Amino acid sequence: MKYRIKDPSLASEGKKKIDWAEVHMPVLFNLKKKFKLNSPLDGVKVAGCLHVTKETGVLIRTLRDLGAELTWCGCNPLSTQDDVAAALVEEGISIFASRGVSNEQYYDDIHATMALSPNVTIDDGADLTVEMHNSGGNISQVYGGTEETTTGVVRLRAMEKNGKLKYPIMAVNDAETKHDFDNVYGTGQSALDGIIRATNILIAGKNVVVSGYGHVGKGVARRAVGHGANVIITEIDPIAALKAKLDGYSVLPMISAAETGDLFVTTTGCKDVIREEHILRMKDGSILANAGHFNVEISIDALKSNSKLVKQINDNTTEYELNKGNKVYLIGEGRLVNLVAAEGHPSEVMDMSFANQLLSAMKLIQSKGSLSPAVYDIDRTQDQEIARAKLESMDINIDTLSDEQETYLTGFSEGT
Ligand code: ADE
Repeated sequence: MKYRIKDPSLASEGKKKIDWAEVHMPVLFNLKKKFKLNSPLDGVKVAGCLHVTKETGVLIRTLRDLGAELTWCGCNPLSTQDDVAAALVEEGISIFASRGVSNEQYYDDIHATMALSPNVTIDDGADLTVEMHNSGGNISQVYGGTEETTTGVVRLRAMEKNGKLKYPIMAVNDAETKHDFDNVYGTGQSALDGIIRATNILIAGKNVVVSGYGHVGKGVARRAVGHGANVIITEIDPIAALKAKLDGYSVLPMISAAETGDLFVTTTGCKDVIREEHILRMKDGSILANAGHFNVEISIDALKSNSKLVKQINDNTTEYELNKGNKVYLIGEGRLVNLVAAEGHPSEVMDMSFANQLLSAMKLIQSKGSLSPAVYDIDRTQDQEIARAKLESMDINIDTLSDEQETYLTGFSEGT
């Protein structure tokens, strides 16, 4: 078995973490129980490129227990939990990931993962899928792939539009039980967790500037308010900006927000959101963090080129002393703050995201390559199955429609 990890001796710590996550992921656990007898993934080769966390460990165990042969790499140079990687290797999984890899090593790990010649790819951010297409991946035996995150789905839809997509993709991110929970509650809580672990600042009373008012931005804004912050939203979309205003936030262009913010959190999925002209206007002590998939939202080049001194003040916080004298702090090198400085989304939300991954991968396997290359939305029935299972795991019952109500809702004759 091939693998590349930082330190195999961390395995026992990692195992405890995966075991802990498993207890908090009942939907995925019950799906495993339901399907296990038939070993539906027997003989299927799965290559994954997802953050190597304790929750991903539970997904990997699930796929393995259902019969899959697996290889896995990280989808971010700074997000791998090395103890989890070690535990998975000890359990016989080929893992190619460690925290703090160079860009070159990152892509070497993806290529090592591709060498399995997978039937299914499971991706987060589309780096594996793009490499499968552009760097000699064996596409011919791929039934399809799944994509976990907004940024990845945007990239893959662009590939589809340009006629470059060669195998079908299930847009797991676009399932309601994924983006309405993971992106909102998962990132909302874990991004603030990362910021607090890295800095221990009091959020109460701070001006927190959140860039982007999509699912992630809404989650971060809501949690910051919960901590007592004054939240300012920046947006480029008029509808999202209007929603933010009516949800009670101030809305400003970044050039104005830059002058009042104490803490800045980017959540847009776009590049160059915080640029030189913004950094130069910021108050002394401003803190910058990114919660979007790639490290392109905050211009690190502008921070560097305008600084006379750069100092690492703890594992995850860098101080930039600007030429004009004030200091600006960057958390986690501008990479996903929730995974770099904390542990990513809590297990309870990853439960639903990864139940979507499992069911989507199984659909691709059942299709045996018969789907044409396109990006597919997740069936509403899958979403409802997962939501019901989650409610059940929380001991929550809901009402059902009576026959009369059903008729009313599907008819048109009853009016005033
Ligand atoms: N993305 C965000 N949080 C995550 C987690 N805990 N595990 C895997 N992927 C994630």
